[in-house]
Amino acid sequence: MSEIVRVGVVGCGLVGSGVAEVCARAGLDVTVVVRSDASAEAGRRRLLDSLDRGVRRGKLTSEQQHAAASRVHLATDIAALADKQLVFEAVAEQVSVKRDVFAKLDEIILDPTAVLASTTSSIPIGRLAQATTQPGRVVGIHFFTPVPAVPLVELVATEFSGEQTCSQAESFVVETLDKRAIWSPDRVGFIVNMLLLPYVLAAIRMVEAEIATPEVIDQGMVDACSHPIGPLKLADLIGLDIVAAVARALYEEFKEPLYAPPPLLSRMLEENVLGRKTGKGFYQYT
Ligand SMILES: NC(=O)c1ccc[n+]([C@@H]2O[C@H](COP(=O)([O-])OP(=O)(O)OC[C@H]3O[C@@H](n4cnc5c(N)ncnc54)[C@H](O)[C@@H]3O)[C@@H](O)[C@H]2O)c1
Repeated sequence: MSEIVRVGVVGCGLVGSGVAEVCARAGLDVTVVVRSDASAEAGRRRLLDSLDRGVRRGKLTSEQQHAAASRVHLATDIAALADKQLVFEAVAEQVSVKRDVFAKLDEIILDPTAVLASTTSSIPIGRLAQATTQPGRVVGIHFFTPVPAVPLVELVATEFSGEQTCSQAESFVVETLDKRAIWSPDRVGFIVNMLLLPYVLAAIRMVEAEIATPEVIDQGMVDACSHPIGPLKLADLIGLDIVAAVARALYEEFKEPLYAPPPLLSRMLEENVLGRKTGKGFYQYT
């Protein structure tokens, strides 16, 4: 089993850029595939801003920042990933979009033992693996945002995932990226989001019922429970489109009212109020 040193990422939003950053900070060259030059520019900006924050917080030196930035290469043609040993899919949370990406990766990646990983928050990995001709090399590697800061990663094996695929994924996450890993069964919401989503949705329902403002609810959870941020700031950070997609997937699967997206969340989505990524969510961002 050869060491993974050639890594690719598809998508350069919040998670794709975060995954590219942690790989580059671990000393690896990473190729990130985006859909257009404009996405490449936005993705690079996101990465540089995050590295800047790391320097300001004393997590890395400016030499390390420049070295990491120079290891990330953006491309618009997925064929740039042909020689990779590990590719992370980090595109929109939609089954059809992700299956298209997996089908393309399956076609272009030359190494039959290369690991194809989805970063999905809610889609069962088996549904994505079936878009490939070799489902044994597909696994879930679910990071949490902000990717460079959160130590935990959920690993998800499907009924098809090969033993070598699973052990390569785990050793990459634990040894190369220095994260902690837990294995989850391949089910909607995995482990953490089954608990986290009802909590975030309950906070949204409290705002909707005018029980308290986002500021008061968040302060309650930060000061009473020592959470680093409250549930509404967290929802804005995750992205309200992602929160809604995960809630819908959980509700569809389990039909439990606690997973149903609250009407306030649906109205915010209709108005393209998606949290930090659009500058407005439960809070305003500049
Ligand atoms: N936001 C979170 O907190 C979080 C946490 C863990 C996992 N995830 C998962 O990570 C994935 C990405 O989420 P995100 O928050 O980064 O979303 P995002 O909206 O920030 O980014 C998604 C990116 O994918 C790009 N994209 C869409 N289709 C593409 C394609 N075919 N090829 C290349 N790029 C494409 C979009 O342009 C966008 O830049 C989702 O599956 C999500 O569930 C998100």
